[in-house]
Amino acid sequence: MWLPCRCATKYVVASFRRGVSASFLHVLRRGRSSWNSAAFMPESAGFEGVSGRDALHDYSVSHGESFWDAVARQRLSWIRPFDAVQDCDLSQGRIKWFEGGKLNVSVNCLDRHVHTCPERVALIWERDEQGSEVRYTYRELLEMTCRLGNLLRRHGVKKGDCVTIYMPTCPLAVASMLACARIGAAHNVVFAGFSSEALAERIRDAQSSTVITVNQGVRGGKITELKRTVDAAVQSCPTVRQVFVAMRTEKRVEMTDRDFTLEEEMLKEDVVCEPAAMDSEDVLFLLYTSGSTGKPKGLVHTQAGYLLYAALTHRYVFGYHDGDVFGCVADIGWITGHSYTVYGPLANGGTTVLFESTPVYPDPGRYWDMVERLRINQFYGAPTAIRLLIKYGDQWVKKYDRSSLTTLGSVGEPINTEAWEWYNRVVGEGRCPVVDTWWQTETGGICIAPKPSEPDAEIVPGMAMRPFFGIKPVLMDTEGKLLTSNNTSGALCMALPWPGMARTIHNNHQRFLETYFQPYPGYFFTGDGAYRSQEGYYQITGRLDDVINVSGHRIGTAEIEDVLNQCSAVAESAVIGYSHNIKGQGKYQRVYAFVVLKKGVDIQEADLSKQLNSMVSEKIAKYACPDFIQLAKRLPKTRSGKIMRRVLRKVVDCDLDGLGDLSTLDDPAAVQEIIEGHEKLS
Ligand code: PRX
Repeated sequence: MWLPCRCATKYVVASFRRGVSASFLHVLRRGRSSWNSAAFMPESAGFEGVSGRDALHDYSVSHGESFWDAVARQRLSWIRPFDAVQDCDLSQGRIKWFEGGKLNVSVNCLDRHVHTCPERVALIWERDEQGSEVRYTYRELLEMTCRLGNLLRRHGVKKGDCVTIYMPTCPLAVASMLACARIGAAHNVVFAGFSSEALAERIRDAQSSTVITVNQGVRGGKITELKRTVDAAVQSCPTVRQVFVAMRTEKRVEMTDRDFTLEEEMLKEDVVCEPAAMDSEDVLFLLYTSGSTGKPKGLVHTQAGYLLYAALTHRYVFGYHDGDVFGCVADIGWITGHSYTVYGPLANGGTTVLFESTPVYPDPGRYWDMVERLRINQFYGAPTAIRLLIKYGDQWVKKYDRSSLTTLGSVGEPINTEAWEWYNRVVGEGRCPVVDTWWQTETGGICIAPKPSEPDAEIVPGMAMRPFFGIKPVLMDTEGKLLTSNNTSGALCMALPWPGMARTIHNNHQRFLETYFQPYPGYFFTGDGAYRSQEGYYQITGRLDDVINVSGHRIGTAEIEDVLNQCSAVAESAVIGYSHNIKGQGKYQRVYAFVVLKKGVDIQEADLSKQLNSMVSEKIAKYACPDFIQLAKRLPKTRSGKIMRRVLRKVVDCDLDGLGDLSTLDDPAAVQEIIEGHEKLS
């Protein structure tokens, strides 16, 4: 793995010392400021008569144009200033921000900080091997990025091309993302847990000529053969001309004519790389995510608006101050890693942790040992990990000094009250606000969170609560009418555009319009349901479409069905999300599959389940495997042949009174069979 020094261990020690003196003492010396209006938005001084968080939020939605104008000028470095703040029309699905402006995202994330504080630590790579963290300064990260940018350019990658990055969370992955931004190529980071087929599908859709990967991944003490997965994937990707392979381990892997060792190639390159002048609305990256159909969608984010929104939310939702160490433990393969491990913190000149390991490796104290060792100020994680850690007991947390912590963040799925309280009381010793942040790949950054708020404003456990500046959430009823009162539930939509929102689906603008803008004309539809309390706070209640949230991982039921139906024994299948309610852990979703076998097939249920699980993990990823498989003679369908998933959901939820109108059922006996099958299984 790339280390700008001949001896890796020497560099670890040297950079550790440098990190301590340059950045950490600063953190220790600086006092913590509380939440006050000037602290959360210094620009508010420029908005006449606006004081305090709530007034600033009102202003940001009623005077969006001048709010975003001021913030964009102040927060981003422009090569050429923009002519227009926005040209958006939600009824048409048209979203354009800061047109006429030119900038370079990598310059905003690196060069401008190198000018002021080159030796500030940009990245702390918390490697899988505990206690072997490596620090990279802004100067070093810029050099790495420039070498990579030059390398990509020399190998023919041009502005407008798309580079696929299939790497674990590590400095070279971050530098690869920034190198793409530097030369004007889009990146397409694919989560390194995805199978070769899932990777191939994403490479093909993005039409990438170039893939960047590692020889092997290391996570939780286990080796994964990532280069081998890439080899298998590119066999069905005719656009791929070259694969760059970084060396995470010593192991030599098979290399073909198309493959290059990344570190060797980088050494040939100059440390200065001319940044491309990008239009605000040029593509910055694609990120694939699951939707209601079988095909994952490549959401497109563009340059200025995305970066501005990631930076602003990072600073104000988490109360990030210069000199803080920000620890987001999400993988860079997800939007959380993009916005809050890479772009937000770096745009703010922050120090960001790259977490390569798991919460339980080598033991369940891993997160908190890391917090103590790296003096992390803001910790951002997922409810699923918190639930897991609760089971191991408080002693794993209390063993470590967590006095550096000021804010605890949560993302990906609803956080149940027990987990919220444990996080607050045990991890945060009752002194750190817990911010439950609601957002999506589509929104680019956090849209609803308890912070920023007025000083001492309440935080309700398990609620995302308050819209961020410029965000105007609304709820709709089933007829598409706006719900104006409080203490009500409905479909969560956004009434105003904001700079961080996705612009389209790669190669499928029609699907973009149909999914997000046509269900409620004039609004952006999130796909989630929400409750608005009497006080006007928001609580997310879950997906309204055929998307399942499995421990924070999003997966479309149709994607899983596609794979199950490929099994030679299976005639057809239907997959639904099953809300599992475990005492003390709240409600969370599991994958429940109904499977109809082909006529004459005789197979043991255990064998079938083994076969189906291995197919799903091979074709998608392990997390998508069904937790329950129920064999059925047939599925309940309408007379026009549509599977009645609503009925299946009710059966699995044991809500037989709520089966609803069955008059369109083709054969009502099918429902009785499903009920009996479910009773047997449970
Ligand atoms: O259903 C919501 C859930 O995760 C979905 C977005 O998934 P993805 O695009 O993969 O992004 C995850 C990280 C931002 C949402 O539509 N979700 C996300 N955060 C929360 C949440 N559900 C409840 N509470 C949250 N805080």
